[in-house]
Amino acid sequence: MKVILLNGSPRPNGNTYHALKLAADALNVQGIETEILQIGTKGVHGCIGCGSCATRENHLCVFTDDVLNEYAVKMRQADGFIIGSPVYYAAMAGDLKCFMDRAFYTSSSYFRFKPAAGVAVARRAGAVSTFNQIENYFALGEMLRVPTIYWGDGYGQTPGQVEQDAEGCQHMQVIARNMAWLLQVLQAGKDVPKPEKQTKIRTNFIR
Ligand SMILES: Cc1cc2nc3c(=O)[nH]c(=O)nc-3n(C[C@H](O)[C@H](O)[C@H](O)COP(=O)(O)O)c2cc1C
Repeated sequence: MKVILLNGSPRPNGNTYHALKLAADALNVQGIETEILQIGTKGVHGCIGCGSCATRENHLCVFTDDVLNEYAVKMRQADGFIIGSPVYYAAMAGDLKCFMDRAFYTSSSYFRFKPAAGVAVARRAGAVSTFNQIENYFALGEMLRVPTIYWGDGYGQTPGQVEQDAEGCQHMQVIARNMAWLLQVLQAGKDVPKPEKQTKIRTNFIR
């Protein structure tokens, strides 16, 4: 079993990375393979709403000069994922927002019923709104949200400081432990057929 952890910070070794690494190490202890992906600093296109991914082979994005298609395929193949973001103005970092829009527009049908968790790392405030913003994608993608004892948050400013946040470190351990448990439950129930995907009724509020 494999879990992808996406670091939505442009800082590859910042606090978001350190928080995700705690979760990755705890998953590894349980025998679960992990890979931490970096959003990086090269920029991620925003979704232009062209709808091409709906008809293209493999439902991939028309933009091929950023990390989206490569990472979306890795996430499709993974058994679960953890998305981490630094808190920027009480929201996720900009490139991660661009990534999430396109990852879920292209791939949410591949993500159905996979377990997923959000992680938000702040200096002081805004982690809850950021966590909720990340988890919205999981809710709309019919994913299984990993239960947590708080909001998947950690606190720190200078790189690595989050490791001094004992409570935040515990949240990462709990996310990993509960993710590992959900993966085992899914493995045990792999022969139970998944509910069929429904065609969406789109009312657009027109009556
Ligand atoms: C543009 C920008 C906006 C930020 N906004 C907030 C904020 O709203 N609340 C907060 O507590 N920290 C804020 N921070 C601080 C970061 O969330 C914090 O330093 C975090 O640890 C960075 O994670 P990283 O090291 O993984 O990049 C902001 C930082 C930047 C660069």
